[in-house]
Parts: sequence; structure tokens; C-alpha cells
Amino acid sequence: MQRSHTCGELRIGDVGKAVAICGWVDRVRDHKGVIFIDLRDRWGRTQVVVGPAAAAATLVAARAARAEWVLRVTGTVGARPAGTNNPKLPTGEIELVCGEIEILNQAETPVFQPGAVELPGEEVRLTNRWLDLRRPAMQENLFLRSRIVKLLRDHCDELGFIDVETPMLGRSTPEGARDYLVPSRLDHGCFFALPQSPQLYKQLLMMAGFDRYVQVAKCFRDEDLRADRQPEFTQLDLEMSFVAADDVMGVIEGLVRRTAWEILGLDVSLPLPRLSYDECMERFGHDAPDLRYGLEIVDLTALAAASDFRVFRGTVEGGGRVRGIQVPGAAARFSRKELDDLTALAVEAGAKGLIWLKCEADGGWSGPVAKNLAGIAAGLQDRLGCEPGDLALIVADSFEVTCKSLHALRKRLGADLGLYEAHAMHFSWVVDFPMFARDAENGGWVAMHHPFTAPRPGDLDLLESDPAACRALAYDLVINGSEAGGGTIRIHDSATQERVFRIMGISPELARERFGFLLDALRSGAPPHGGIALGIDRWVMLFGGLDNIRDVIAFPKTQKAADMMTGAPAAVEPKQLTELGVRVLVPPGKPAPP
Ligand code: AMO
Ligand code: AMP
Repeated sequence: MQRSHTCGELRIGDVGKAVAICGWVDRVRDHKGVIFIDLRDRWGRTQVVVGPAAAAATLVAARAARAEWVLRVTGTVGARPAGTNNPKLPTGEIELVCGEIEILNQAETPVFQPGAVELPGEEVRLTNRWLDLRRPAMQENLFLRSRIVKLLRDHCDELGFIDVETPMLGRSTPEGARDYLVPSRLDHGCFFALPQSPQLYKQLLMMAGFDRYVQVAKCFRDEDLRADRQPEFTQLDLEMSFVAADDVMGVIEGLVRRTAWEILGLDVSLPLPRLSYDECMERFGHDAPDLRYGLEIVDLTALAAASDFRVFRGTVEGGGRVRGIQVPGAAARFSRKELDDLTALAVEAGAKGLIWLKCEADGGWSGPVAKNLAGIAAGLQDRLGCEPGDLALIVADSFEVTCKSLHALRKRLGADLGLYEAHAMHFSWVVDFPMFARDAENGGWVAMHHPFTAPRPGDLDLLESDPAACRALAYDLVINGSEAGGGTIRIHDSATQERVFRIMGISPELARERFGFLLDALRSGAPPHGGIALGIDRWVMLFGGLDNIRDVIAFPKTQKAADMMTGAPAAVEPKQLTELGVRVLVPPGKPAPP
């Protein structure tokens, strides 16, 4: 070992010991001939003092040392002189009185200082990720990640789950995103797909009799990225045999409770609240609602039908809905410009506009269209529960558009008005999802979760007659308005599986071609089974109180799915393409790859 202690370890009880520490130079200060070097490693920081009486070589090295140089320092632990303690540092009562400095490596002037308060732009951080990862805050995030993963694994291990690795090179596993494809060298024109999830493999493990499976699984999805999505992310993926939805949810509730307790000291009471999908859409406009605050959506359609305001009447006559939210005490809070911003937000979400109304001291409404609503003024107040000083925000449109726009407004207002505590955590389940949704592109049915999800037993008869009404045995875990996990009970008989494929427009031939192995396995003694996958990156983000998924991933991709550090994706040698039988069609206007 090159060191006897880490940079975060020495305490007042170590005074007098001869020690060696190694680390990076965080800061150097020359104080009237006494040189102070803060040496940093992943464990902490220690102050090294080089006095004028130090050996000549030590003085030379101390004067030469620059930010991010790597040093090994030997010396004696001393107590800091009275009045110079640093209560913010665990090592703040001691300093290392330097004997010798060995320069293990020099460093060019860093693009940014890991110890600096001011952060550079994210592009600079991602390009120089190794420097960014030296920042204590980033190191904390990865320590937290490691703790959470260990905790989840330990918990599953204690419950008898077996950890099985499933392939990265396989066939497409449909989870609703595009696949990342890998061309085969031996079979030109054939491709592996990187897994969108281990879904089918884990189901096959149940059919193979493993009973309880778990994996910390890498998943790949080529989809539009957002602050909480990465093209390559990690799931805690699990599957269980001979279970109902309640059993799987029970296991996850145990994990939620244990994680909240061990990581945050938070005592979560179980069972977690459950909301149906329909209730979520009605009350919050979204299937992963943030329940840390209210601002519930109120339906005003019946009232609007009775008004002669063109926008309202027209919408209701066209089969649409009129819905709004009441924002307590916000009438005086927003300037005209801010109300315009809220309108723009609603429009961005698809609305044709946003009606805002301020509830005045006399109980009447003011706002651009208040006079058009005179006939239903009292009714609006009653439905929305508005009091003087409140603001009402109303959208008239299709149900989907009212959901999207009011959800966007809720989210913005919840954050901007500080409607929840910074450390608040809210856990809930959303259940009773529809089996199918309409495909925006071709109008056909697509699986809301994935095609292997079982319908509620009572809804089996609806599969063909009314697919839209058919509910699934599906459950999503929602934390603070973020989908933190999702799972389902699976279809375990081939006949139902074939029916579901058919509804989704997958012909028996295509089903056989793509999923023949599954259908065969389902016919060979498949136990009832179900499972769930937790988004580990999102868990770490949420339990760490962070708002950017890239901060909990060591080497993440940008919003454009690129790795700024390595430059991936990148062009490859023509020879490689030839071997793979791949020819690149360069889109017009794009430069040919070098
Ligand atoms: P699902 O698609 O709901 O289910 O994914 C499970 C959880 O994974 C997380 N997640 C993501 N995290 C970061 N970036 C992404 N692009 C991303 N996509 C999903 C979410 C989500 O809740 N096979 C099923 C699970 C099952 O049925 O057992 C599945 O993958 O937190
Ligand atoms: P207009 O008569 O179209 O100028 O609309 C009058 C007001 O109603 C404007 O403030 C619009 O932003 C708003 N508005 C128009 N259509 C809708 C709608 N479908 N939902 C909510 N507000 C709307």
C-alpha cells in the first residue's frame, strides 16, 4: 500500500502518528512562507502543512504542486493551532505536518476545478467526465447509487430471489421504443437487438422453474430523451411464480420501505396508496401524478354546456371536455407576462388556449373572457371551490388535450409556487391500466405496457368485443410524479397470448415467427407468474433529491444520445462495414463519414 490512511480518515485521536496519504491537490495556499495543500481523495480532504523548516526537496515540491497533481505525502499528524479548526471538515481538527512529498503525477491545468463552486456547462462536464466525477457531489451520487443497488439486491436475496444474467444480444423485446440493432457478421442482413428489457427471458426463467428471479439489468431504448430518460439505463428486474399482483406489489413495498428508511431515515407506512388509471387521468391528467401537492383537476363540462361562450359550447358539442384547476391565492401572484407563459405552456401541450380567471374581492371573476362567462360565474365558483384571491385556469378540448395541458400546468405550478417541501417523498401505485392504447401512427391497438400482460380475469370477454374497455393486471410505482417502476401479471396460456397478439395486428404467422419460442414454452407447463422492473437510475435520482438522470450515471449520454467523452456514436472503418455486409446510406445534406 502506498498510503497508511485515506484523506478523510485522520482525527484528533491520531495526533502524533506518522502517516502517509495519497490524493489530488485540491488547493494550494502560500501563507507567508507556510504552504498549505488540501489533498483530496474519494474519502475526503486533509490539510497538509509545509513549514519553512521543511527539507529543501519538500519545499521545492510543495511550491511546484498545482491543482490536480497527484501526491503522496508522509508526515506526522498534528492538532491544528487554536482558532484554525475547520468545523465543516471531518478532518478539520488536524493537519498533516509534512515530512516528504512524492509527486506521483503532474496534471495539466484542468479545464475546470473539481473543487470549484461554479460549475461549467454540462457539455464541458460530459466531455471531461473524469474530472467531473472527481467532484465530491458526483462521487456522493455514485456512492448513493451503489448503496441503493446493494440494498435492493440484498433484500431480494433475503427473499430467495436468484440472480440470473440474460443476453444482451437477442431478439427484439417490444417495450414500445425503437431497438438498438447489432448487425451479424456471420449472417449478413440479420441483426441482434439489444434488450429493451429482459422481459421474455425472465418469463422463460419462470417457465424453467426458477420461481423468483432478479437482475440488475441494462436496458436499451432508442427513444426521445428527457431529463429522466437515457437510451441505456438500468432496471432492478424481477419476476415471481405463483403470485397475484398484490404479492409482487408487496415485495416492492418492502423495498420502498427499506430504502426510504436506510437512505433517508423515512418511515413509510404500508400499504402504499393505490389509484386507478381512470382516477389519475380525471384528477391529475396523468398516469404518474405528483401527489406531493393538490391542484386537482375539476370537470366543468356540464356547466360549460349551459354557457353561451363560444369556446365552451363548441367544445362540448364536439364531444370534448372543459376542465380546470383552482390555484389558491394565486390571483395577485402572476403578472400578465407570467399568465401568458402559462398559456404558452398549455398551448405547447396541445391546447388551443388557456382561460384564466381571477376571483375578485366581491366574489366576481375578472380576466379576458370573464364577461363571456357571466351566466355561469356562480357555478364556476362553486365547482372550482374558488375564493377571493384564487386563480382559475381552464382548458376546453378533447379529454387527452385537457389532460396533457392541465398536467403540464399542475407540474409547473407545483414547482414554481413551492407547493411541496424540498425533501417530501410521495409513493403510490397506479393500477387498472387499460390493456391497449391506440397507435398514433396507424390507429391500431398497441399494448399499454407490453403484449405479455394479462387482462383482468373479468375483462377477458372484452378482448375482442371492446379492447378499449379491457383492463390489465398492471401496476406502476410512482414516486413524486415520476414512474419509478412498472410491472404486470403475465399471460401464462398460449391461447390468450395469441388472442392478444391478434388484437395488436400480429398475425398468427408473424406471432409464430417472432414469438414461437414463447408460445411453445407457454404450452409446456407455464406457471402463473408476474413481475416488475424498477428504474434504478430514477430511484437514485429521486432518493438523492436530484432532477437530472445524468447526474446518477457515471458515463451518461446527452439528449442526443451521444457520449461526449468518447465521441460515440462514431463512423467505423469501411472494412468493418464490409465484414458486416452493411452499406451506409448517407442522408442528403449530411457529410459522408470520414
Ligand atoms: P417499463 O418499460 O415500465 O417496464 O420499465 C420499467 C421502469 O424502467 C424505468 N425506465 C427508464 N429509466 C430511464 N430511462 C429510460 N429510457 C427508461 N425507460 C424505463 C422506469 C420504468 O418504470 N419489462 C417491463 C417490466 C415488467 O413488466 O416486469 C418494463 O421494462 O422507471
Ligand atoms: P379567442 O376567442 O379564440 O381569441 O379565445 C378567447 C380566449 O380563450 C383566449 O384567451 C384563448 O387563449 C382562450 N381559448 C381559446 N380556445 C380555448 C380552449 N379551447 N381552451 C381554453 N382556452 C381557450
